[in-house]
Amino acid sequence: MERIESVATMQRHCLEARAEGRRIVLVPTMGFLHEGHLSLLREGRRRGDLLVLSLFLNPTQFGAGEDLDHYPRDLAGDSEQALRAGVDMLFVPSAAEMYPPGYASYVNVEGLTEVLCGSSRPGHFRGVTTVVCKLFSIVQPHVALFGLKDFQQLAVVRRMTADLNLPVEIIGMPIVREADGLAMSSRNSYLSVAERRQAVSLSDAISLARAAATAGETRSEVLLQMVRRRIEREPDAAIEYARICDRTSLQDLSRADSRAVLLLAVHIGKTRLIDNSYLFEEDCLS
Ligand code: PAF
Repeated sequence: MERIESVATMQRHCLEARAEGRRIVLVPTMGFLHEGHLSLLREGRRRGDLLVLSLFLNPTQFGAGEDLDHYPRDLAGDSEQALRAGVDMLFVPSAAEMYPPGYASYVNVEGLTEVLCGSSRPGHFRGVTTVVCKLFSIVQPHVALFGLKDFQQLAVVRRMTADLNLPVEIIGMPIVREADGLAMSSRNSYLSVAERRQAVSLSDAISLARAAATAGETRSEVLLQMVRRRIEREPDAAIEYARICDRTSLQDLSRADSRAVLLLAVHIGKTRLIDNSYLFEEDCLS
């Protein structure tokens, strides 16, 4: 496994690999790898012959007062896991390498980025699309894999890729959960023992809504009431949003149908968690 810090070197290697006819797969991450990331790497390994993992804690997607300075990091542990997962190239640029002095260009997807997480995190998705677009341009991947846990992020990245005619196939991978249902996330490491117990309320609430929908209840407001009631039983839980939306437009649905996705953002103490699920089917691969 080669570890590369320079944008120019990474781009040169990838252009050479493309010229040799190799199929490049990119898994973009901010590091502190967990089983969710490893599932992307396993699928990535299957889908191409040059597997690139980027570890870059992207400052432009964090707002003032967010957790950039405290975001968990473990470069040594991540490198070991990457090696074991069969990564060919580990791309670990510095912030100055990605955003040198004078940097002034950003990618903005309109509409989809203004709702849900976009309402409480202004500028967040602009940072995500900017860095993902830069990574696509540097790594030149044929395929890029993202987790469905960041459902809105995936919808926004798909929109950007289509709108800008980027020749990259975007794959969304199912959420990986702990044994009790909690969706895996680097931010779970912030939770105290008591908060960790309460955090399971998100996946519990999703299961309740899915069961009710399968039994025939399609009124979104009724399903969302069940969701809210379950989460509000926890003393440290504060719901930021609980919505049932169309999976592509992210617009609210008054009745859940086959395109419906339940989306949650909940603060457990100081930790902001997100989770989601389709209401009528298992997460699918794309
Ligand atoms: O999902 C993440 O880890 C990040 O938002 C991403 C896609 C790597 C961009 O920094």
